[in-house]
Amino acid sequence: MTATQPRPDSKRTAGTAAPGRATIDARTLRTDRWWQAPLITALLLSAWVLYAFVRTVWQAAYFAAPEHYLSPFYSPCVTASCTSGSRDFGTWFGHFPALIPFAIVTLPFLLGFRLTCYYYRRSYYRAFWQSPPACAVAEPHTNYTGETRFPLVLQNLHRYFWVAAGVISIVNTWDVVQAFRPEGHSFGFGLGTVIMLVNVVLLWAYTLSCHSCRHIVGGRMRNFSAHPLRYRAWTFVSKLNAKHMQLAWTTLATLLITDAYIAFVAAGTFSDPRFVN
Ligand code: FES
Repeated sequence: MTATQPRPDSKRTAGTAAPGRATIDARTLRTDRWWQAPLITALLLSAWVLYAFVRTVWQAAYFAAPEHYLSPFYSPCVTASCTSGSRDFGTWFGHFPALIPFAIVTLPFLLGFRLTCYYYRRSYYRAFWQSPPACAVAEPHTNYTGETRFPLVLQNLHRYFWVAAGVISIVNTWDVVQAFRPEGHSFGFGLGTVIMLVNVVLLWAYTLSCHSCRHIVGGRMRNFSAHPLRYRAWTFVSKLNAKHMQLAWTTLATLLITDAYIAFVAAGTFSDPRFVN
C-alpha cells in the first residue's frame, strides 16, 4: 500500500487512522517544536489551579483590615467565619468548617465561567486531552463526539456563566471602592489599591471581551444601521475580543498577584506603601 492510498479498514472513526484517510504512519509531518505550546499551557494552568486551590481553602491572610484590602479569592466573604470588617455584603451563612472556601457562593460560577470559556477550552483540550495537541498533529483518541454529549454539552452554559461573571465583577469593583476608604479615613489609597484597581479593570476587559458578550451585544440583528448604539458597543467589544487570549492569561496573573500581595500585607510580611493616608 502506498502512502497515499486510503485506509481500507480501521477501528477509528476519527483522526488520521479513520477509514478513507491516506495511509501516513507518522503522527505528524511537522518538524518544529509543536509540543512546546501545549506543554507550557499545561504547566502554567496546573500551577495556577494549585495556587488557587491552596489559597481558597487556606482561610487565612485574605483581608488587610486597616487598608480594607479583600482578596478576590475570598470575595464576597459572606460566612460568620470571615474576619470582622470583610463582610461588606453581610453574613449569609454560619461558621464554615476548615477547608471550605469562604467565597463558596461565587467560586463555582467563576470556575464555570473560566472552564467554559472558548479560549480556555481550546487550551486545555490541547494541553491535557491532546484533542488535538496542535494543528496537523494527530490526536490519540479513537473517536470524536465534539461537545454534543454529557459532560461537554454543558459547555453551552457559557453564556449564563457570563452573566454571573458580570455580577461578580461588580462585587470586585465594590471591593476596590472600599479599598479607597481605608480604616479611619474617608479617602486614601496605597500600592495595594492600585494593584486591585488594575486587576478589576482587566477583569472587566476579559469579561466584556467574551465571545458570548459579543454575540449578546451584536447578534440576532438584520442590519446595524437601525441600531447605532448596539453597533458602537459591538465594535468596542469586537476590539476587546481580538485580545481575548491575552486577557485570559493576564487576568490569571493579576488575580494571583492581587491575592499574593494582600496575603503578604494581611500577614504583616511587609507594609503597604501609602500614597494618600
Ligand atoms: S469566551 Fe472566554 S470568557 Fe467567554
